[in-house]
Amino acid sequence: KRVAILISGGGSNMLRLLDSMTGDHPARPVLVGSNDPTAGGLAKASARGVPVFSVDHRDFASRADFEAALLPPLLEAGPDIICLAGFMRILTSDFVRRFEGRILNIHPSLLPKYPGLHTHRRAIEAGDAQAGASVHQVTADLDAGPVLGQARVPVLPNDTSDTLAARVLVQEHRLYPAVLRRFAENDPTPVLLGD
Ligand code: GRF
Repeated sequence: KRVAILISGGGSNMLRLLDSMTGDHPARPVLVGSNDPTAGGLAKASARGVPVFSVDHRDFASRADFEAALLPPLLEAGPDIICLAGFMRILTSDFVRRFEGRILNIHPSLLPKYPGLHTHRRAIEAGDAQAGASVHQVTADLDAGPVLGQARVPVLPNDTSDTLAARVLVQEHRLYPAVLRRFAENDPTPVLLGD
């Protein structure tokens, strides 16, 4: 299976995905792209010999125009699976429909709780005992597709959003590769980590 990964920043999740696709793993990375030409993850992917590209979303007046520029390199790479990893742009339903059911995303909350932004702060303010991350299939609705795996962590009394984010990120790095492997093997068993 051919995997393309889209990032917006440092790409720590992208890196774990790249490093997981070795040996008898049924998937191989074919492309890493970003909406930000300065994304630190692009150099990391390049250093691992993965082709990279970027399309600066600020150069485009609309989401549709940006996606029209994002599509050609993706279609050329011909991915079977697209992994969004710290990708901070919302994709239109037209784009999602082109890759229906083959786009994964990692979101730093226990979906369906806290779709959208500032997830850790919201969990702390709600007094939740647990927080975590979810990998889900991307649909036209933000952070709403079928959940393929979750990792749970405790919320500690003096947690800030930074300390909680750091604890969750460690689990994201375990969760995403595990979900990608099962997804690439067409194994529908959900990945459930922590507690
Ligand atoms: C992570 O918190 C992830 O949950 C969110 O983007 C953040 C940064 O991810 N999607 P990465 O280090 O760029 O992979």
